[in-house]
Amino acid sequence: MAKYVINAENKKSKINKEIYGHFSEHLGRCIYEGLYVGENSDIPNTNGMRNDVVEALKEMKIPVLRWPGGCFADEYHWKDGIGPKENRKKMINTHWGGVVEDNSFGTHEFFELCRQLGCKAYINGNVGSGTVQEMSEWVEYMTFEGVSPMADQRKENGHEEAWTVDYFGVGNENWGCGGNMTPEYYGNLYRRYQTYVRDYNQDKKIFKIACGPNVDDYEWTEGVMKTCFRHCPENMHGFMDGLSLHYYTHPEGWQIKGSATDFDDKVWYKTLAKTLYMETLLNRHGAIMDKYDPEKQVGLIVDEWGTWFTVEPGTNPGFLYQQNTMRDALVAGINLNLFNRHSDRVKMANIAQLVNVLQSVILTDGPEMIKTPTYHVFKMYSAHQDATLVDSYIETEKIGLEEEYMVPNLSESASVDADGKLQITIVNLSATESYPVETRLIGFSGEKVSAEILCEEMHAKNTFEDPNAVEVKPFDGVEKVHGGLKFTIPACSVLHITVEK
Ligand code: AHR
Repeated sequence: MAKYVINAENKKSKINKEIYGHFSEHLGRCIYEGLYVGENSDIPNTNGMRNDVVEALKEMKIPVLRWPGGCFADEYHWKDGIGPKENRKKMINTHWGGVVEDNSFGTHEFFELCRQLGCKAYINGNVGSGTVQEMSEWVEYMTFEGVSPMADQRKENGHEEAWTVDYFGVGNENWGCGGNMTPEYYGNLYRRYQTYVRDYNQDKKIFKIACGPNVDDYEWTEGVMKTCFRHCPENMHGFMDGLSLHYYTHPEGWQIKGSATDFDDKVWYKTLAKTLYMETLLNRHGAIMDKYDPEKQVGLIVDEWGTWFTVEPGTNPGFLYQQNTMRDALVAGINLNLFNRHSDRVKMANIAQLVNVLQSVILTDGPEMIKTPTYHVFKMYSAHQDATLVDSYIETEKIGLEEEYMVPNLSESASVDADGKLQITIVNLSATESYPVETRLIGFSGEKVSAEILCEEMHAKNTFEDPNAVEVKPFDGVEKVHGGLKFTIPACSVLHITVEK
């Protein structure tokens, strides 16, 4: 019997709803086909955005969307994507798949998508191949209310009011596809570029994000923090509000990656062990940030995470299209529990990517759309959005098949939401074993308990032929006992329990 203690009296950090954020790049069929089909499409749409996809994402409570990249961001010149569509430049997306980019989805379309989704906007600017002037004018175009060349142009292009840019990334992966820079060089560029990301509206200040490390590149974190943080320690807000981190789960390493659907038990545990490495990264990058910023003014922004497998057979290798199984659901559940538990430092996270690319929540095929197992995890976990993390501890045992890839059998996090309800999410990492759990609740007495579960065998997936093979089901196995709860969590599952007074 695993002992599980939740102390609701010990309130911790706020779980920003942006931890449940997403990422959409001009890559493969994410933007074009996945989100945007154009006004003249036969696929039902509103101003070009697919109605079915928008509806599903709203149900999942998407809080924030990052755009236009990714590596694409540092090749993107925003002026190519405004004005009459017939005049927009056509070009080859050399980074992703060598297909024609007609720029029909640009700044106006992105904000229209965010409006329909009711989510915040996270724009990623171009440092790698763009100028300071270009970045500065983009911010002016998007956010300036008054009279100015850029604001006037926005109005001429049909949008009178300024938009709100909630988050702005100053470059992406500038250690790699964004310019192959050193941390000090990038740090200096960050200082310069961010100066011109102006807050035209003092009530809607832009949260500025510096490019952070790839995986375990601690030197990068050190170099950027040293170059940027010390510069402005008294008034960090508006100088550097966040530092990004990118970490993908590749079971077989970066080169081979491995199949999304065809894997054995060994690869199952290897994938989960590699996912749990996220905790080491949060701790170690967090410790470097703490050295400069003990008050945690700068958020760690995990704006690319998730599984990255070999593409589906027969698809363009540059499109990064992969299927999604229960294994992805567990990867999502584990990572989201970690982000919740580290929400004192992690202020936003954006899974890669929203539709048809990498660990998507939605896959489309022409007019058809399916929700992946990962979608269901995001929807269940949305209960934690903007809730307060509470102290919790679960007894675990090591499971697995190879010494190097042993994992704890259970992962969890708990929060109290705005209505005073206790929200618990637990993942059972075992492919085969269920575990009884005895939960002691301290400082929380609830009468009403409800639960829902995602639980299928590890290869289970949704397909266009069988779209609901994996779906959330009610779970009536949670028993209210004196001082707590008792339940048995089935193998290979993600469980969400709500306790209310
Ligand atoms: O998400 C796919 C790519 O992965 C992004 O474009 C890049 O930032 C990262 O390397």
